[in-house]
Amino acid sequence: MSQELRQAVGELIPVSALPCRGKTVLVRVDYNVPMADGVILDDTRITATLPTLNLLLEGGAKVVIATHLGRPKGKVVDELSVAPVAGRLSDLLGRRIPVAGDVAGSSARRLVEQMQPGDLLMLENVRFEAGEESNDPAFAAALASLADCYVNDAFATAHRAHASTAGVARLLPSAAGLLMMREIEVLQKVLTEPARPFLAIVGGAKVGSKVGLLRSLLGKVDLLWVVGAMAMPFFVALGKSSGSYPVAEAELQMAKELLEAAREAGATLRLPVDCRVAASMDAPETMRAVAWDAIPTDMMSVDIGPETLARLLSDCATARTVVWNGPPGVYEVEQFSHGTTALATGLSQMEGAAVVVGGGDAVAAVERAGVASRMHHVSTGGGATLEFMEKLTLPGIEALRAAPAEPLVR
Ligand code: 3PG
Repeated sequence: MSQELRQAVGELIPVSALPCRGKTVLVRVDYNVPMADGVILDDTRITATLPTLNLLLEGGAKVVIATHLGRPKGKVVDELSVAPVAGRLSDLLGRRIPVAGDVAGSSARRLVEQMQPGDLLMLENVRFEAGEESNDPAFAAALASLADCYVNDAFATAHRAHASTAGVARLLPSAAGLLMMREIEVLQKVLTEPARPFLAIVGGAKVGSKVGLLRSLLGKVDLLWVVGAMAMPFFVALGKSSGSYPVAEAELQMAKELLEAAREAGATLRLPVDCRVAASMDAPETMRAVAWDAIPTDMMSVDIGPETLARLLSDCATARTVVWNGPPGVYEVEQFSHGTTALATGLSQMEGAAVVVGGGDAVAAVERAGVASRMHHVSTGGGATLEFMEKLTLPGIEALRAAPAEPLVR
């Protein structure tokens, strides 16, 4: 284990080391799950926290769960109540989980007072309170005063310095949950001590949102593939057309800088050699494959082409570490999903390589392809995973490191 890795995880107190018998433990989870009309579409983020919850319950803690759901912006929005996620957690644990009528008000307080060791309670959506996103000290203190200690198992929200992800950790003895520890350990290990060759595949739409990640990966990987709409500014930087896909001047400059950075780092940056193009997102019948430097001006790239897919899979086959973030095509449209599905399937069949999938879209793509369980690690984070891959830490993790040994609130 490298010095860097030892430091990253070594300074965190794991939940298993937290004395919790008879204590009230505030556990921040990220149950911000995809939902449609009140129905949960994917409960991965809920099931991923069960080991931490069971550990605390078996250890005789009173477990108070806090999560956000959606972006209610400090107001009570009935459709964003945590009731459906509490319902799913109740089903998974085989017991009814009561939900407080507020976050840290009289309802929460009364229910916490009635708790016995081994009991669970879920607070209402923490983002119903304006003080959550502003990390208001008074709201953080109100939350912290519900409990004796704090566990953060919400890796997917650890890039937010909010009251329930950062503020409370400065007021209560705190520990990292098992999911949080695994996410940090796996991501940190592949980024700092990867088995080589180390290949990263970055796709998705906006180069601007991933420029930091791309820069940071260039210094770590042996090979970086840039695919999807992300490749378009690079095509323009190389003097070719992005078709009808608009490339902003700022993105063009970023692509030029990244090409230069790749040259300086001695890293190989690969771009698609062919693309499947279509007249628009709504016209899959117009789709055809063209060379990368021959995208017609009235068409846009919607997927990688067959030659690119073959080369990408061949590079994957020789890699011992692969990090994948962002799809190579518009995978949400069935006809444009071929490259993404083939990549997901190819990665799932790799023997003896560490394949880490991170970021909302790539994770959704491996789930759609039905291969998530065959990957070495599928991160529960979207923006958090991106930021962690770039900076190797997050505000929520730093807050745990700064936690006091004794509660600072009563
Ligand atoms: C996510 O889904 O990425 C996390 O739950 C964070 O949500 P946010 O982007 O609304 O802060």
